[in-house]
Amino acid sequence: MSDDGRDEATNRRETANRWDAADYDADHGFVHEYGRSLVDRLDPKPGERVLDLGCGTGHLTAEVAAAVGNDGAVVGIDRSAEMVAAAREEHDAPTFRQADARTFGTEDPFDAVLSNAALHWVPGSDQADVLAQVADALRPGGRFVAEMGGVGNVDRVVTATLAELAERGHDRDHPWYFPSVGEYATRLENAGFEVRLARLFDRPTDLDGPDGLRNWLGMFGDSLLADLPDVERTAVVDGVADRLREELYDAESETWTADYRRLRFEAVADATEN
Ligand code: BEZ
Repeated sequence: MSDDGRDEATNRRETANRWDAADYDADHGFVHEYGRSLVDRLDPKPGERVLDLGCGTGHLTAEVAAAVGNDGAVVGIDRSAEMVAAAREEHDAPTFRQADARTFGTEDPFDAVLSNAALHWVPGSDQADVLAQVADALRPGGRFVAEMGGVGNVDRVVTATLAELAERGHDRDHPWYFPSVGEYATRLENAGFEVRLARLFDRPTDLDGPDGLRNWLGMFGDSLLADLPDVERTAVVDGVADRLREELYDAESETWTADYRRLRFEAVADATEN
């Protein structure tokens, strides 16, 4: 326990919620670039009201705003103040608001909710709260189109990091929630959604340059590494790279390939009303 009574895993999660938005855009643009196909699946129509849940720096939110036009309305929410500030700076059209996915609340219902690479940051124990909020935010027949890490996502990276930490005396739990199709479809149904599509697929993801893995852990690894002194953090990251180099690094192209697996789903709220 820390001085303020919170457990260390909670503190690491809170630290992980402080993002370097500029670094995120500069080195991890693949997150919203891959997300474009999710917007295609959402197929936003002129005049629709759309919520982007976990909008990050707002690139997909802005694409949706362009599709719905002036008669529509698009709102992006993110838990990170840094991400919301960067989104407001970069894009004019959508409204951005700092809010927690578990408690955001909605006054005027949306036609659709989009979420890309955000839901796995919410612990499994809180997923029902998120889905209740989404169900509440949608009009009857409204659609929920989302992608998150699926079971086995970045497993090699997580396993190597946990092993390196354990060898140095740090016990850590897996910090992210990566469900299977069956698990998440059941959660969606329990929240009142009709699941129209749910798919788990491998999406090996290139992390450019000899420092690609180091950059990835620098951006996303706080949930595992936040409380380590800088020197030890560097040593852990070096150790993880050593463990994974043979499997995940191609020296010729100087590219790391992370073992991403995506869970994508499309669901409809209160489907009988559609
Ligand atoms: C993901 O998008 O799958 C992901 C990103 C950061 C940490 C873990 C997973």
